Amino acid sequence: MAEQTLIIIKPDAAKRNLVGEILSRFEKKGFTISKIKALNFTVEMAEQFYSAHNSKPFFGELVSFITSRKVVAAVIEGENVIDTTREIIGKTNPKDAAPGTIRGDFGIDITENSIHASDSSESFDKEVNVVF
Ligand code: CMP
Repeated sequence: MAEQTLIIIKPDAAKRNLVGEILSRFEKKGFTISKIKALNFTVEMAEQFYSAHNSKPFFGELVSFITSRKVVAAVIEGENVIDTTREIIGKTNPKDAAPGTIRGDFGIDITENSIHASDSSESFDKEVNVVF
């Protein structure tokens, strides 16, 4: 089976109708969208999804933001899709993200940074089970 990753188009980007624009970047790169849905994260889902960050000072803000309105989650597949997706989305803080990356083009700040993507196959396994 091809490698898979999970992306979440976050509330700030979904609100600005950037879903099509963001998804097209993955398709143009030759990746396939194998699952997709719009959903509202519950607090329980968010705490599980972001459990690696639960001792960080920004955890409350992270949970509050991801549960604030509808997001779009997708499973994307293709060769080397985990690492290539990290390049397509850019650095975590939009201030540091290069132009042409999703966060560089659309991110507002480190919380409202438009998109999340799995950072490893272990993270993907955990995240996909929370969302799908
Ligand atoms: P994401 O890729 O969804 O994974 C964890 C999120 O935590 C990250 O995007 C940022 O939105 C957020 N984050 C990471 N570091 C910080 C920080 N120093 N302050 C606030 N939010 C952060």
